[in-house]
Amino acid sequence: MTEYLKTRVSSFDDLIEKGGIEAGNTVLVSGGCGVGKTVFTLQSLYNGALAGEKGMFISLSEDVEKIRANMINNFGWDLASLEEKGLLSLQKVDPFYLAEDVTSLIVNRQKRSSIDRSLFDGHDSLSLVDSRSVKMPFKPDRIVLDSVSTLEAAFTNKDHYRIYIQALVDSLNQHNSLNFLICESEQDPSLYSKTGIEEFLVDGVIVFYNLRKGQVRRRALEILKLRCSDHVKELVSYMITGEGIKIMPGEQVF
Ligand SMILES: Nc1ncnc2c1ncn2[C@@H]1O[C@H](COP(=O)(O)OP(=O)(O)OP(=O)(O)O)[C@@H](O)[C@H]1O
Ligand SMILES: [Mg+2]
Repeated sequence: MTEYLKTRVSSFDDLIEKGGIEAGNTVLVSGGCGVGKTVFTLQSLYNGALAGEKGMFISLSEDVEKIRANMINNFGWDLASLEEKGLLSLQKVDPFYLAEDVTSLIVNRQKRSSIDRSLFDGHDSLSLVDSRSVKMPFKPDRIVLDSVSTLEAAFTNKDHYRIYIQALVDSLNQHNSLNFLICESEQDPSLYSKTGIEEFLVDGVIVFYNLRKGQVRRRALEILKLRCSDHVKELVSYMITGEGIKIMPGEQVF
């Protein structure tokens, strides 16, 4: 039987007919700076952990100590205590080291054979991001990578990034977890990633907009695609409050 995992972020799951996202799916969370991409995914991990579900947050840019401090100060989410209980794991990976490791793996294997999806055989999804320091302390129900844009910027050879991201999505999909890849875009994006390929590789795309009309900006999110279920198609208003993301279906954006 197909298993659907709730995001547990405000009323987000009510926007999805199946009430959650299929286990093993990878979803791109795209939007401009400050729209709440990190908050959305951490809210999902935090509420999941309170329900006994395990979550991994892999940061490729922000320092995890700073993330813990921001989350407790802004929203009262004590991530550290959930980490101590073995329900959460926040880890930082240097994107330049990762890009370097991936590049040398590709270059070495290219010498021997042609590049294909089996390039990373023998490396599971998390060892793809763990060649330096990510540890997998438990079998996670949710995995977040923040962000693939930082990773893309660390690759000098963009073809190597494309090979890697395809392999990463393939192997993440083999886990039975709900996986979020965060991606930076414009405030009112028409392109959801810099390379334009990520949105086609993943099973779902959630877009966060910071829309401007005259002197006013309003926040709205959209499920742009979700292969596993029917879903609300229009833009839905949301706010970031002292309790995190609050989704307001039925409220006009302007
Ligand atoms: N307690 C709070 N009440 C209301 N809004 C808050 C609160 N704390 C943070 N915010 C909002 O959350 C935003 C930060 O959200 P978040 O870090 O998730 O953005 P992001 O999309 O990940 O941005 P970036 O691309 O820069 O990483 C802040 O810009 C601020 O507007
Ligand atoms: Mg962020």
